[in-house]
Amino acid sequence: MKELGINLIENSYPIYIKKGLIDSIGEEIKKISTNKKIAIITDENVDKFYGEKVKNKLEENNFEVFKIVLKPGEKSKSFDVLLKVYDKLLDFGITRGDLIIALGGGVIGDLTGFAAATLLRGIPFIQIPTSLLAQIDSSIGGKVAVDLPRGKNLVGNFYHPKAVFIDPNVLKTLDKRFLYDGMAEVIKYGCIKDKNLFDDLLKYDGEEDLFYHMEDIIYACCSIKKEVVEKDEKDTGDRMLLNFGHTIGHAIEKYFNFEKYTHGEAVALGMYAITKKSEDMGITKKGTCENIKHILKKYKLQYKINFEDKDKILEAINLDKKNKGEFINVILLNYIGEGVIKKINKEEIIKFI
Ligand SMILES: NC(=O)c1ccc[n+]([C@@H]2O[C@H](COP(=O)([O-])OP(=O)(O)OC[C@H]3O[C@@H](n4cnc5c(N)ncnc54)[C@H](O)[C@@H]3O)[C@@H](O)[C@H]2O)c1
Repeated sequence: MKELGINLIENSYPIYIKKGLIDSIGEEIKKISTNKKIAIITDENVDKFYGEKVKNKLEENNFEVFKIVLKPGEKSKSFDVLLKVYDKLLDFGITRGDLIIALGGGVIGDLTGFAAATLLRGIPFIQIPTSLLAQIDSSIGGKVAVDLPRGKNLVGNFYHPKAVFIDPNVLKTLDKRFLYDGMAEVIKYGCIKDKNLFDDLLKYDGEEDLFYHMEDIIYACCSIKKEVVEKDEKDTGDRMLLNFGHTIGHAIEKYFNFEKYTHGEAVALGMYAITKKSEDMGITKKGTCENIKHILKKYKLQYKINFEDKDKILEAINLDKKNKGEFINVILLNYIGEGVIKKINKEEIIKFI
């Protein structure tokens, strides 16, 4: 089993990564929680494969378990759903000494984390992330949130789990589109911090080989996220590095009303677009953009988009809650493996689109 520790001033917690970890989840959680009650929050897709398994493993270890199964998809990260979740947890008689488990992708992780952070002023929670994006990104770092009708993640908090249990085997049931969606974020980590990871990704020969190395890939990504989060827990400095490809990516998602591209697909387009410009401007080492194109194609991600309506993209960038004020931070690459945060005047962003 691979293990990492997130070490923050007030919160420290372990991340465990192991193929098949879900099979021993009962014993693992027994080591952490002494109270009887555990609520599992999951969605229908994940429940179908792993809901009963996790519940049974916990019951075998004498926990009293209650499962809340939500509809899959971003729509579940809403206040309406949150209120129903609060009700169900209270009906179950949960207390601040008990435990909540987020079993699912980033939607379940964010919503469960927010419910755990707020109900009864805070109930301990554990992440069992099941999508690639959740395993390498959203389950670590403590950001929890729900959406408002006017925008994503507008109500949230920093609330860390007690532990994160990652089983790469569960990714085998993930829809392929979501697997490659997560790969965009894996590629991002390689671009900003880890040339070895990037080079390894280029070497893998098909999906079977990718899955064979998945534990190492997840470990590499979580190590980078750990390093960045430990330096900048509240996302005011270094953590922005993780937004490589995201300024344009978010704008693309918004421009297409969150319907045409998944988050990862949009980030892939954003990484290529911004690197093409920064290379043309002489900031990024020549050839970087070609490497990014090559790796994106390999992982079934589109790299090019024509911005027919640059004004709309600019408008979307300006509406992004992260881009308020006169200046904007863009993340550029010096070369593969080294990302930098560049503060530019808002008008200058046009040069990068
Ligand atoms: N908190 C953070 O730091 C952070 C970071 C990045 C993204 N996010 C959030 O994460 C969310 C996106 O996460 P996501 O991409 O995981 O989406 P998701 O939770 O909707 O999961 C994607 C799909 O895969 C299904 N699924 C998940 N695991 C599965 C498995 N093992 N087998 C079969 N199906 C499975 C889900 O039911 C869903 O249909 C967004 O809401 C985003 O805002 C949060």
